[in-house]
Amino acid sequence: MNVYDTIISRRSIRRFHQKPVNLETLKKCVNAGRLAPSAANLQLLEYCIVIDKELCSNLFETLHWAAYIQPKWAPKETERPTAYIVVLVKDTQNPYYERDVGFATENIVLAAEGEGLGSCILCNIERVKIQEMCKIPLTVAVDSVIALGYKAETSIVEDMKDSVKYWRDEHDVLHVPKRTLDNIIHINTFS
Ligand SMILES: Cc1cc2nc3c(=O)[nH]c(=O)nc-3n(C[C@H](O)[C@H](O)[C@H](O)COP(=O)(O)O)c2cc1C
Repeated sequence: MNVYDTIISRRSIRRFHQKPVNLETLKKCVNAGRLAPSAANLQLLEYCIVIDKELCSNLFETLHWAAYIQPKWAPKETERPTAYIVVLVKDTQNPYYERDVGFATENIVLAAEGEGLGSCILCNIERVKIQEMCKIPLTVAVDSVIALGYKAETSIVEDMKDSVKYWRDEHDVLHVPKRTLDNIIHINTFS
Protein backbone atom coordinates (compact mmCIF):
# COMPACT_ATOMS: atom_id res chain seq x y z
CA MET A 1 0.00 0.00 0.00
CA ASN A 2 1.22 3.51 -0.69
CA VAL A 3 0.96 6.15 2.04
CA TYR A 4 -2.33 7.62 0.80
CA ASP A 5 -4.01 4.20 0.55
CA THR A 6 -2.81 3.33 4.07
CA ILE A 7 -4.27 6.58 5.42
CA ILE A 8 -7.56 6.02 3.61
CA SER A 9 -7.94 2.41 4.76
CA ARG A 10 -7.16 2.96 8.47
CA ARG A 11 -10.20 2.99 10.73
CA SER A 12 -10.48 2.62 14.49
CA ILE A 13 -10.90 -1.10 15.19
CA ARG A 14 -12.38 -2.34 18.47
CA ARG A 15 -12.79 -6.08 17.84
CA PHE A 16 -9.80 -8.35 17.38
CA HIS A 17 -8.89 -11.98 16.66
CA GLN A 18 -7.19 -13.63 19.62
CA LYS A 19 -3.87 -14.00 17.77
CA PRO A 20 -0.77 -12.54 19.44
CA VAL A 21 1.10 -9.68 17.79
CA ASN A 22 4.81 -10.20 17.35
CA LEU A 23 6.97 -7.95 19.59
CA GLU A 24 9.17 -6.96 16.63
CA THR A 25 6.09 -5.71 14.75
CA LEU A 26 5.10 -3.61 17.78
CA LYS A 27 8.63 -2.22 18.05
CA LYS A 28 8.41 -1.28 14.37
CA CYS A 29 5.20 0.67 15.12
CA VAL A 30 6.90 2.46 18.05
CA ASN A 31 9.81 3.24 15.76
CA ALA A 32 7.36 5.00 13.43
CA GLY A 33 6.26 7.06 16.46
CA ARG A 34 9.86 7.77 17.45
CA LEU A 35 10.55 9.31 14.04
CA ALA A 36 7.48 11.60 14.04
CA PRO A 37 7.92 15.39 14.01
CA SER A 38 8.52 16.82 17.48
CA ALA A 39 8.36 20.49 18.50
CA ALA A 40 11.96 21.79 18.93
CA ASN A 41 12.93 18.12 18.46
CA LEU A 42 12.52 17.69 22.24
CA GLN A 43 11.21 14.10 21.85
CA LEU A 44 9.19 14.06 25.06
CA LEU A 45 7.48 10.75 24.41
CA GLU A 46 8.20 7.22 25.58
CA TYR A 47 6.17 4.07 25.09
CA CYS A 48 5.28 1.02 27.12
CA ILE A 49 4.45 -2.02 24.96
CA VAL A 50 2.09 -4.41 26.77
CA ILE A 51 1.81 -7.99 25.51
CA ASP A 52 1.76 -10.03 28.74
CA LYS A 53 -1.66 -11.76 28.86
CA GLU A 54 -2.48 -10.94 32.47
CA LEU A 55 -1.34 -7.32 32.08
CA CYS A 56 -3.38 -7.01 28.84
CA SER A 57 -6.41 -8.31 30.70
CA ASN A 58 -5.92 -5.82 33.56
CA LEU A 59 -5.26 -2.96 31.15
CA PHE A 60 -8.46 -3.74 29.26
CA GLU A 61 -10.46 -3.02 32.42
CA THR A 62 -9.13 0.57 32.47
CA LEU A 63 -10.30 1.43 28.93
CA HIS A 64 -13.63 2.87 27.83
CA TRP A 65 -14.79 1.97 24.37
CA ALA A 66 -16.86 3.58 21.65
CA ALA A 67 -18.89 6.03 23.73
CA TYR A 68 -21.56 6.51 21.05
CA ILE A 69 -22.49 2.82 20.98
CA GLN A 70 -21.92 1.77 24.59
CA PRO A 71 -22.49 -0.52 26.37
CA LYS A 72 -23.73 -3.04 23.82
CA TRP A 73 -20.67 -2.87 21.59
CA ALA A 74 -17.72 -2.96 23.98
CA PRO A 75 -15.36 -5.76 22.85
CA LYS A 76 -16.38 -9.15 24.23
CA GLU A 77 -13.82 -11.32 26.05
CA THR A 78 -13.03 -13.14 22.78
CA GLU A 79 -12.59 -9.89 20.86
CA ARG A 80 -10.16 -7.98 23.03
CA PRO A 81 -6.94 -6.36 21.77
CA THR A 82 -3.91 -8.63 22.03
CA ALA A 83 -1.37 -5.82 22.45
CA TYR A 84 -1.21 -2.24 23.64
CA ILE A 85 1.14 0.70 23.34
CA VAL A 86 0.83 3.09 26.28
CA VAL A 87 1.93 6.58 25.23
CA LEU A 88 3.96 8.37 27.91
CA VAL A 89 4.98 12.03 28.20
CA LYS A 90 8.07 13.23 30.08
CA ASP A 91 6.97 16.88 30.32
CA THR A 92 3.30 17.84 30.16
CA GLN A 93 4.27 21.48 30.91
CA ASN A 94 5.58 21.79 27.38
CA PRO A 95 2.90 23.68 25.41
CA TYR A 96 3.34 21.52 22.31
CA TYR A 97 3.34 18.07 23.85
CA GLU A 98 -0.19 17.19 22.70
CA ARG A 99 0.80 17.96 19.12
CA ASP A 100 3.79 15.65 19.46
CA VAL A 101 1.45 12.93 20.78
CA GLY A 102 -0.91 13.47 17.84
CA PHE A 103 1.82 13.12 15.24
CA ALA A 104 3.44 10.13 16.95
CA THR A 105 0.21 8.23 17.50
CA GLU A 106 -0.91 8.76 13.92
CA ASN A 107 2.47 7.45 12.72
CA ILE A 108 2.00 4.43 14.98
CA VAL A 109 -1.53 3.58 13.82
CA LEU A 110 -0.54 4.03 10.16
CA ALA A 111 2.51 1.79 10.63
CA ALA A 112 0.19 -0.74 12.30
CA GLU A 113 -2.21 -0.54 9.35
CA GLY A 114 0.74 -1.18 7.03
CA GLU A 115 1.58 -4.28 9.08
CA GLY A 116 -1.99 -5.58 8.68
CA LEU A 117 -3.01 -4.67 12.23
CA GLY A 118 -6.11 -2.90 13.47
CA SER A 119 -5.79 -0.19 16.09
CA CYS A 120 -7.72 2.21 18.25
CA ILE A 121 -6.38 5.28 20.05
CA LEU A 122 -7.99 5.64 23.48
CA CYS A 123 -7.94 8.71 25.72
CA ASN A 124 -10.96 7.72 27.80
CA ILE A 125 -8.76 5.69 30.13
CA GLU A 126 -8.06 5.32 33.84
CA ARG A 127 -4.58 6.81 34.00
CA VAL A 128 -3.82 6.28 37.68
CA LYS A 129 -4.54 2.54 37.42
CA ILE A 130 -2.45 2.23 34.24
CA GLN A 131 0.42 4.10 35.91
CA GLU A 132 0.36 1.60 38.78
CA MET A 133 -0.06 -1.62 36.80
CA CYS A 134 2.71 -0.73 34.31
CA LYS A 135 4.96 0.56 37.12
CA ILE A 136 5.37 3.94 35.41
CA PRO A 137 7.17 6.49 37.60
CA LEU A 138 5.18 9.59 38.57
CA THR A 139 7.70 11.77 36.72
CA VAL A 140 6.21 10.42 33.48
CA ALA A 141 2.54 10.98 32.52
CA VAL A 142 0.26 8.43 30.89
CA ASP A 143 -1.28 10.21 27.90
CA SER A 144 -3.17 7.59 25.94
CA VAL A 145 -3.33 3.93 25.01
CA ILE A 146 -3.21 2.45 21.51
CA ALA A 147 -5.03 -0.88 21.37
CA LEU A 148 -3.78 -3.24 18.69
CA GLY A 149 -4.46 -6.64 17.18
CA TYR A 150 -5.64 -8.47 14.09
CA LYS A 151 -8.92 -7.00 12.84
CA ALA A 152 -12.15 -8.85 13.55
CA GLU A 153 -14.55 -6.15 12.39
CA THR A 154 -15.23 -3.98 9.38
CA SER A 155 -15.51 -0.23 9.65
CA ILE A 156 -16.41 2.02 6.74
CA VAL A 157 -16.55 5.75 6.19
CA GLU A 158 -19.73 7.39 4.99
CA ASP A 159 -20.52 11.00 4.14
CA MET A 160 -21.72 12.78 7.23
CA LYS A 161 -25.26 14.08 7.08
CA ASP A 162 -26.61 15.37 10.37
CA SER A 163 -24.64 13.47 13.03
CA VAL A 164 -21.02 12.67 13.89
CA LYS A 165 -22.10 9.52 15.76
CA TYR A 166 -20.72 6.27 14.40
CA TRP A 167 -23.19 3.37 14.32
CA ARG A 168 -23.41 -0.35 13.57
CA ASP A 169 -25.71 -1.83 10.95
CA GLU A 170 -27.51 -5.19 11.06
CA HIS A 171 -24.38 -6.93 9.68
CA ASP A 172 -22.25 -5.47 12.50
CA VAL A 173 -20.41 -3.18 10.10
CA LEU A 174 -19.36 0.04 11.82
CA HIS A 175 -20.24 3.20 9.86
CA VAL A 176 -18.15 6.30 10.59
CA PRO A 177 -19.62 9.58 9.31
CA LYS A 178 -16.99 12.03 8.06
CA ARG A 179 -17.53 15.58 6.81
CA THR A 180 -17.23 15.67 3.03
CA LEU A 181 -14.24 17.20 1.29
CA ASP A 182 -16.42 19.92 -0.27
CA ASN A 183 -17.68 20.77 3.21
CA ILE A 184 -14.21 21.52 4.61
CA ILE A 185 -12.23 22.95 1.67
CA HIS A 186 -12.09 26.68 0.97
CA ILE A 187 -10.28 27.81 -2.17
CA ASN A 188 -8.53 31.18 -1.92
CA THR A 189 -11.13 32.75 0.36
CA PHE A 190 -13.36 31.22 3.04
CA SER A 191 -16.78 31.93 1.54
C1 LIG B 1 -7.64 11.79 20.75
C2 LIG B 1 -8.54 10.59 20.50
C3 LIG B 1 -9.12 9.92 21.57
C4 LIG B 1 -9.91 8.79 21.37
N1 LIG B 1 -10.40 8.11 22.46
C5 LIG B 1 -11.17 7.01 22.26
C6 LIG B 1 -11.64 6.25 23.37
O1 LIG B 1 -11.35 6.57 24.53
N2 LIG B 1 -12.40 5.15 23.13
C7 LIG B 1 -12.69 4.72 21.85
O2 LIG B 1 -13.37 3.70 21.69
N3 LIG B 1 -12.26 5.42 20.76
C8 LIG B 1 -11.50 6.54 20.93
N4 LIG B 1 -11.01 7.25 19.85
C9 LIG B 1 -11.34 6.81 18.48
C10 LIG B 1 -12.38 7.73 17.83
O3 LIG B 1 -13.67 7.41 18.33
C11 LIG B 1 -12.32 7.53 16.30
O4 LIG B 1 -11.08 8.00 15.84
C12 LIG B 1 -13.45 8.28 15.58
O5 LIG B 1 -14.70 7.73 15.90
C13 LIG B 1 -13.26 8.27 14.06
O6 LIG B 1 -13.17 6.95 13.60
P1 LIG B 1 -11.91 6.49 12.73
O7 LIG B 1 -10.71 6.49 13.65
O8 LIG B 1 -12.27 5.11 12.24
O9 LIG B 1 -11.73 7.47 11.61
C14 LIG B 1 -10.20 8.36 20.04
C15 LIG B 1 -9.60 9.03 18.95
C16 LIG B 1 -8.77 10.12 19.19
C17 LIG B 1 -8.12 10.82 18.00
